[in-house]
Amino acid sequence: MIYPIVKYGQPVLEENAEAVSEFDTPELHKLIEDMFESMYAARGVGLAAPQIGVGKKIAVIDVSTGEDPAQKIVLINPEIVSREGSQTGEEGCLSIPTFREPVTRAMKVTVRAKDAKGTEFEMTGEDLLARAFQHETDHLNGRLYISHISPLKRDLIRRRIRKLQKAGEWQ
Ligand code: NI
Repeated sequence: MIYPIVKYGQPVLEENAEAVSEFDTPELHKLIEDMFESMYAARGVGLAAPQIGVGKKIAVIDVSTGEDPAQKIVLINPEIVSREGSQTGEEGCLSIPTFREPVTRAMKVTVRAKDAKGTEFEMTGEDLLARAFQHETDHLNGRLYISHISPLKRDLIRRRIRKLQKAGEWQ
């Protein structure tokens, strides 16, 4: 099932999501499958559960955008446990469509998370994958990428979104 993507302005995007405590349930597997489907439909490389209105610490990532099944990653209750270096690059978010801004992130990070069966693992990623780990982990802590840009740029984006909301072009 493809879910509509929740857009900036909805409180669920800025709340600390709830940790998952029950694993390997049919509901969890279905939700993860739906998250991948919704992410591919929206042409994203990552999706966090709050972006489909589910306030739980679950994120899916596929930097191959569906080209390589081996690159499908599920992160449940993730935390970044180490960061190295830095990279600055354009970042966007399915919940803030049409906007992109340069964001500085760590170049290489290790994330610790659980998989759908509840098994803990660590994974290290660089470049785009490191960016995705940081962006999605932020989402699950109620943090959007625009919190990493300058207040001036953030206000500009907020103002433009408010106009779109008033025009009924942002819901
Ligand atoms: Ni995002």
